[in-house]
Amino acid sequence: MRQVLGAPSSRLREWTYRMRLLVLGGTAFVGDAIVSQALMRGWDVTTFNRGLTGHDRAGTTVVRGDRYRGADIERLVEEEPWDAIVDTSGYTPSNVLHIASAMKRRAHRYLLMSTVSVYAGWPAEALTEDSDVLECPPDADEHFGQDTEDGPTKYGYQKSGCESAVRLVFGEDRATLLRPGVIIGPREYVGRLPWWLHRISEGGRVLAPGDPARAIQPVDVRDLAAFTLRSIEQDVSGPLNVTAPFDFDTFGGLLAYCMEATQSASELLWVPDQVLVAAGVRQWSEMPLWRTHPGVWQVSSARAKAAGLICRSLRQTVEATWEWMRTSTPSLDGSDRASEIGLSRDREEQILASLTL
Ligand SMILES: NC(=O)c1ccc[n+]([C@@H]2O[C@H](COP(=O)([O-])OP(=O)(O)OC[C@H]3O[C@@H](n4cnc5c(N)ncnc54)[C@H](OP(=O)(O)O)[C@@H]3O)[C@@H](O)[C@H]2O)c1
Repeated sequence: MRQVLGAPSSRLREWTYRMRLLVLGGTAFVGDAIVSQALMRGWDVTTFNRGLTGHDRAGTTVVRGDRYRGADIERLVEEEPWDAIVDTSGYTPSNVLHIASAMKRRAHRYLLMSTVSVYAGWPAEALTEDSDVLECPPDADEHFGQDTEDGPTKYGYQKSGCESAVRLVFGEDRATLLRPGVIIGPREYVGRLPWWLHRISEGGRVLAPGDPARAIQPVDVRDLAAFTLRSIEQDVSGPLNVTAPFDFDTFGGLLAYCMEATQSASELLWVPDQVLVAAGVRQWSEMPLWRTHPGVWQVSSARAKAAGLICRSLRQTVEATWEWMRTSTPSLDGSDRASEIGLSRDREEQILASLTL
């Protein structure tokens, strides 16, 4: 068994060293994008999952197991050591604490895929990495936290506890906590952008939510993946928001790119926020990517940008997602969350009919 090692200096690594990466998960949306790009860079990639979701990419070493089973983690620890662990499937603090503790001497860096939902002010306030986070102990079980109307969610509390667990075990210098806002792009199984593309491709009168000039800052999964690998290469530690910049694009732009990509002749009818709110349209889910809370698209990613985050254009993301939808058979129905996404055609017609547009 090899000894673990601090990672060699970035410069040396660039030319002579094959990075060894363990991805917890690695076969779904975010994890798969990271695995795919790491393989393209010639990294040595191991994935750990149960074999229930997605597929294994050729070239990865696959370790099957359940992260909630102690014996499976013990078996994983016996594998060769890694320079970095990327945890895309960590959702429960006590579980992340267990895995991080087991891996402390087996990996140099632990990168947790966290979320902007860890902020106490999400989605009401503008946010930077210095904003307050929700309090959750590093050993909390899956029951800690609760959903509140228009405020913090149980998911946010739990992810905050996961961050604390990684920090506690790996320390400030070896813990990387990426906090993406909403992630879109090819293979998005939640189905937010796919819903818009599908709806607009069907044509007719399309209900468009709120103000077309509303600024939005979703991040492309491929840009998040590239930044994840860069953070590992450059030994970037601490929390980093990962969103597109403030002046990135608008909701009007998003739907225009959907029209272009699908070559649709749809007629977009922009319905004011207050009408949709009064009609009880569920934000974020029933009307994907639409949310009226002022902080939603006010997340500063200046720190990530300074550390090398590069965001491609929204038009490119929309085109690539449509291309993926046309050329593969996305099984959005397979995701629990995909079933919550989208406004029915009846309800759309009802709302449009109620207006003099
Ligand atoms: N989507 C967004 O807009 C968004 C925004 C912010 C942050 N995030 C974060 O991004 C991450 C999403 O990552 P993702 O899309 O790659 O996938 P994911 O849905 O979080 O995780 C799925 C992966 O984990 C594996 N897995 C699930 N349960 C497991 C278990 N009990 N034991 C071992 N492996 C298990 C799955 O394979 P098997 O099922 O085969 O085991 C699969 O490879 C999450 O951490 C989320 O919090 C997402």
